Amino acid sequence: MRYITIALAKGRLAQQSLALFEQAGMGCREIRQPDTRKLIFTNEELGIRFFLAKASDVPTYVEYGAADIGIVGKDTILEEGRKLYEVMDLGIGKCQMCVCGPGEAKDLLYTHQMIRVATKYPHIARNYFFNRKQQTVEIIRLNGSVELAPIVGLAEVIVDIVETGTTLRENGLTVLEEICPLSARMVVNQVSMKMENKRIRTMMEQLRRVL
Ligand code: PRP
Repeated sequence: MRYITIALAKGRLAQQSLALFEQAGMGCREIRQPDTRKLIFTNEELGIRFFLAKASDVPTYVEYGAADIGIVGKDTILEEGRKLYEVMDLGIGKCQMCVCGPGEAKDLLYTHQMIRVATKYPHIARNYFFNRKQQTVEIIRLNGSVELAPIVGLAEVIVDIVETGTTLRENGLTVLEEICPLSARMVVNQVSMKMENKRIRTMMEQLRRVL
């Protein structure tokens, strides 16, 4: 039997998505070992294997078929724009993509001013400002701790994920506009969906039962 390969996004989602697979009877004991440097974990009985990848790489593995299935945030799916099927909302890792900044910056979003927007999600930010709001802005790509940008004067606002709102609150920032709700999704390679349809549907069914 051919392995079904599942790419999991490292980081916040990893433990939750693994727990979900475990509850659904598709776990893999060795992946839970905290200090392992191993990259790929196999469940021989079920013919499935897991690997952990950087979140933004998960859609790439799935588009090219190196993974049949990926578990990754909707933010990454939107940002990467890969060719794949999004088949299921796992309902974990719920948060929002938002425009945030100091309260005073709200006016800048109504007057079609040329402002600077710092973000880890340039594609999502561009699409929101240019297409949905018809506001021309300068997008500045950062790789993390985006909340710093308006504080130190790199940008007027940011486009970022808000989960509990703690990071914003502790830095004197607030949500100015909501862009879209986010959560973890299951994505599937387009060829795998045809070739392994039965096995993938069974896995979806098993996951759905524990959601
Ligand atoms: C994310 C996001 C916010 C924070 C939001 O960052 O970019 O900074 O979480 O969560 P909160 O609303 O619960 O405070 P993450 O910690 O994933 O990494 P980063 O700082 O590298 O962007």
